[in-house]
Amino acid sequence: MPTRAGRRPSRRTSLRRAALGAGLAGALAAGLLTSAAAPATAGPAAPTAAAPDIPVANVKAHLSQFQSIAAANGGNRAHGRPGYRASLDYVKGKLDAAGFTTSIQQFTSSGATGYNLIADWPGGDTNQVIMAGAHLDSVGSGAGINDNGSGSAAVLETALAVAREGYRPGKHLRFAWWGAEELGLVGSRYYVNNLSATDRSKIDAYLNFDMIGSPNPGYFVYDDDPAIEKVFKDWFAAKGVPTEIETEGDGRSDHASFKNVGIPVGGLFTGAGRTKTTAQAQKWGGTAGRAFDPCYHSSCDTTSNINDTALDRNSDALAHGVWTLGSGTTTPPPSGDTFENATDVSIPDGGSAVESPLSVTGRSGNAPSALRVGVDIKHTYRGDLVVDLVAPDGSAYRLKNSDNDSGDDVITTYTVDASTEAANGTWKLRVRDAYRYDSGYIDSWRLTF
Ligand code: TRP
Ligand code: ZN
Ligand code: CA
Repeated sequence: MPTRAGRRPSRRTSLRRAALGAGLAGALAAGLLTSAAAPATAGPAAPTAAAPDIPVANVKAHLSQFQSIAAANGGNRAHGRPGYRASLDYVKGKLDAAGFTTSIQQFTSSGATGYNLIADWPGGDTNQVIMAGAHLDSVGSGAGINDNGSGSAAVLETALAVAREGYRPGKHLRFAWWGAEELGLVGSRYYVNNLSATDRSKIDAYLNFDMIGSPNPGYFVYDDDPAIEKVFKDWFAAKGVPTEIETEGDGRSDHASFKNVGIPVGGLFTGAGRTKTTAQAQKWGGTAGRAFDPCYHSSCDTTSNINDTALDRNSDALAHGVWTLGSGTTTPPPSGDTFENATDVSIPDGGSAVESPLSVTGRSGNAPSALRVGVDIKHTYRGDLVVDLVAPDGSAYRLKNSDNDSGDDVITTYTVDASTEAANGTWKLRVRDAYRYDSGYIDSWRLTF
């Protein structure tokens, strides 16, 4: 457990964006920051998106997985133990499937190999990075479900929500799960030490989540960067939940690694071994004279050691922080990108369907609700043709049925609501000639996003 005494700096920093001056906190909170990097294609500015509600059931499902992983690996998820690597593999698998670019950073501590997991959401201005992170290791004495399955699971579910929503923040989003925090912030310090000065300067904010589901919870907001602090405090205020400044050990979690190199930080905390006062029990409920987390660093830090309301609120506040800070610039979904396959595919007369594949890469999130499908099929009797667009996951969208239209060729553009489909992947145009006699071929087709 890190015990370095935190020294509060006398001069408070502000979320890095010096040129914007004093109005920053208010502007951020109101979502008023305007575009720094103009979008490639002109278009109306997209409204600043509001964060979704994070389903606490999903967060708890991750906690159950961490509990099972500990049970299958000697009862813990500690640095250097198999339960740590299994936890990391679980988180990485979810992120990879959702379209994140993940990397594992390896280090050595106390003679054992440790790992950080970094997940980048493609897109946004990589000169303005918003990071959210949590330590993924437990202590050796237990499964570490509140400390810090809670932060790990909430950061994971927020990242998955970014993918589900197809969020396109103006800034670049990066999520991190740290190894060996319990040995003294080892993984996060290794990460910042290995960043170049330039890369450090690109991180606008680091948000830390360590213990956010304590069973006898308090609602503590880190008192560091004022702009970040305000984003969290405003969220709780809007829900009518009083907060206090976190004082149970400034410097006792991974945000300290970032703060030490001058990166603006913030975070949330529901309390560890310290005792809840009578005044705190009056405003938050729970039990006065009892620790916020009586199972802190103990074997009883299991899935029973979680207050669902605290976990729910802090997960939602986390997502709010990521959405609010990430949208520093609002970038409309780039539109006008066209992908084309101009290879001819002959369509057997009165035969089975043929497909022309089209690989879409380099986009993030889902396809648009008005995906344009340009079709150029040469045929001597178009009434024979049944045409579908097939999404990367195999779902088919009917573009045209067969009928009695005796005209030739299908040269037209269809509009498809493809907003539930991932944009990246192999799309197909599927064409079947249902009746004998006339025939033709797919000349070309294209998707315009
Ligand atoms: N993981 C931290 C630790 O073991 C828990 C903690 C204690 C903490 N005090 C904190 C986390 C203050 C954030 C802020 O020390
Ligand atoms: Zn701890
Ligand atoms: Ca035919």
